[in-house]
Amino acid sequence: MRVTQHPILGDLEDEKKVTFYYNGQPMEGIEGEPIAAALMNAGIRVFRTTAKRHEPRGIFCAIGRCTDCMMVVDGIPNTRTCVTTLKEGMRVEKQEGLERIRTGEEYK
Ligand code: FES
Repeated sequence: MRVTQHPILGDLEDEKKVTFYYNGQPMEGIEGEPIAAALMNAGIRVFRTTAKRHEPRGIFCAIGRCTDCMMVVDGIPNTRTCVTTLKEGMRVEKQEGLERIRTGEEYK
């Protein structure tokens, strides 16, 4: 099931398929849909773990308010994937606790 209407991002009418990478694995999504929607469609439910207790978190509010969906997107940690649109070639990684910006060798 796909998100075609979103309270913040609006209607997602264009269904151009794009390839993105989740923890290095190529996946397919629809350009312009929330990253979280593409991950949910691929069966990914855990997006991050908490800093102290390492508990799993995934989508909760889906409107950019709770931060449970934060992931590392193109090297930028704490990206709320429920309100960030998917683009060709994006690199999305599960976030472990509080991350720092990833660059260079860490990113290959
Ligand atoms: S699910 Fe709450 S901010 Fe994304």
